Amino acid sequence: MSNVILQNVKKVYKNGQEEVVALKGISLEIEKGSMVALMGPSGSGKSTLLHIIGGVDFPTEGKVLIDDQEINKFDDKTLSKFRNHNIGFVFQFHYLLPEFTALENVMLPIQIKGEKNPEKKAEEILTKLNLLHRKNHKPAQLSGGEQQRVAIARAIANNPSLLIADEPTGNLDSQNAKNVIILLKELNEKNKMTIIIATHDVEIAKYCQYIYFIRDGMLVNVEKV
Ligand SMILES: Nc1ncnc2c1ncn2[C@@H]1O[C@H](COP(=O)(O)OP(=O)(O)OP(=O)(O)O)[C@@H](O)[C@H]1O
Ligand SMILES: [Mg+2]
Repeated sequence: MSNVILQNVKKVYKNGQEEVVALKGISLEIEKGSMVALMGPSGSGKSTLLHIIGGVDFPTEGKVLIDDQEINKFDDKTLSKFRNHNIGFVFQFHYLLPEFTALENVMLPIQIKGEKNPEKKAEEILTKLNLLHRKNHKPAQLSGGEQQRVAIARAIANNPSLLIADEPTGNLDSQNAKNVIILLKELNEKNKMTIIIATHDVEIAKYCQYIYFIRDGMLVNVEKV
């Protein structure tokens, strides 16, 4: 069974007269419970592809199926709920809420889902990421790497079936990068979480079962690790 199916996905960004073809027709299937890396040069379309898989952005053409559901046919409310319940997203540039503390940022998706004990759950996750001592700090009071770990904590708060992480270790020192990838591997193995990670780091990619290579908006190779 596949968690993610893309059929001939194209993405064209339009800025006035100028057009950028970021994805030129990508088809792929990612099996449920697998952990895959997405690699490719800067500007090749990794973030664009992840945004489309995560329902954060829409394809210009093509189909996106997550758990056999065509997410681009959902109305806004249904899509938001589907994402809150099923998809965790770690953005390349964090997007934490600046007015909220680390703890509140992690609690928010749990509260939106309507789960009990959001504070306790958020604290457990922050503990796993070695961040409990920073729980009352706002993003601007955290280092780049700490913000990145809060963003990871927020993305896994609701134990999503699909976790999408856009360069989640990009700002981390090698020890914290290793901690993060080991945590993701554990979530993949224990919770059968499907995980897609964009990375420039070969060491990180080695933890995955497959590496998808993208170049100039095209999928050029899939390698089994
Ligand atoms: N909002 C946008 N408007 C116009 N062009 C965009 C937009 N977002 C991305 N692009 C362009 O689309 C292409 C793919 O960008 P994308 O961010 O997906 O690359 P990437 O592989 O994630 O790169 P990096 O490794 O630097 O993060 C690039 O040429 C980029 O300039
Ligand atoms: Mg990117």
